[in-house]
Amino acid sequence: MKTLFAPLEGMTDGIFRRAHHELFGGVEEYTIPFIRLTGDMALTGGERREISPGENAGIPCVPQVLTKEAEQLLWAAGMLRDLGYGTVDLNLGCPAPTVVTRGRGSAMLRDPAALRRFFDRVFPACPIRLSVKTRIGFSSPGEWEKLLEVLADYPLSRVVIHPRTREEQYTGAIHPEAFAAALELFGPRAVWNGDILTPADADRITRRFPGTAGVMIGRGLIRDPSLARRLSGGKAADRDEMKAFFNRLFGDYLKRFGLPVALGRMKKLFLLLSEGMPEGKKLYKEIKKASAAERYLAASDKLLDLWRPADGDQE
Ligand SMILES: Cc1cc2nc3c(=O)[nH]c(=O)nc-3n(C[C@H](O)[C@H](O)[C@H](O)COP(=O)(O)O)c2cc1C
Repeated sequence: MKTLFAPLEGMTDGIFRRAHHELFGGVEEYTIPFIRLTGDMALTGGERREISPGENAGIPCVPQVLTKEAEQLLWAAGMLRDLGYGTVDLNLGCPAPTVVTRGRGSAMLRDPAALRRFFDRVFPACPIRLSVKTRIGFSSPGEWEKLLEVLADYPLSRVVIHPRTREEQYTGAIHPEAFAAALELFGPRAVWNGDILTPADADRITRRFPGTAGVMIGRGLIRDPSLARRLSGGKAADRDEMKAFFNRLFGDYLKRFGLPVALGRMKKLFLLLSEGMPEGKKLYKEIKKASAAERYLAASDKLLDLWRPADGDQE
């Protein structure tokens, strides 16, 4: 079974992907968090770096874009082909208000007819494979049936499904039956995404849906970066490995961005990581307060001393 690393904007950037790939592995492919396409077909320096071949050398990556304009997607697909990519992923799931008010991300699920028009313009001219990462509706799971009819009419290379609506965000009810319906149509091209935090969670999904080729994991791989390796038969991380990983990230962020940004990045990661720990709130508070490297390092060390792999044993 393949494990894919879900895109987590502001977290799984190039520095993170490389450190994770080199220190833990087990991930078949990383989706690069979305780049926002604009009318002037220009990327920011940071976006250019994220998709540059140098940043991702030796790491299997698929870039993701956020757009509702067919021309923008086609422009991006041509540019990505020239950089050597074989697939571009379209974000149909982002629930953020700033994205939705511009009609992008999960907002594209509100109008299946418009989505069909979009694909009708894209597919005949797209120079590389197109995959989507989607939710099952905007307001109601009842919208999924119509959306599936549209998606099934196009040769999408993969359909990653987070079986929640936009309104259900990341923690509301989850709808396995919606995934089952997609699996019937797409077979192994349908990939489950959502709430896999432990090897047992992944096991439940693959036993319930044996036809799927893999799972995509986001938050679970922050809480336990060894989760993908464990799913492919490898060992769970120990605390020394965790410290080496987080110290490498901090060092790399410091070198590239300086202290304030490095601390900001690490705090985001530790917030998610601490959510899986019994004393997490208290331990995270100390990290959050740190504005100097020494204080941050002491607080992160203390937190990682109490870390345990998800669902696993630790000496
Ligand atoms: C902080 C954060 C950033 C995210 N950024 C993206 C993104 O750039 N593109 C995307 O398709 N999904 C994004 N997602 C959604 C995740 O990829 C994933 O679908 C979601 O977290 C559910 O999977 P999980 O339960 O395994 O984490 C983001 C989620 C979070 C929490």
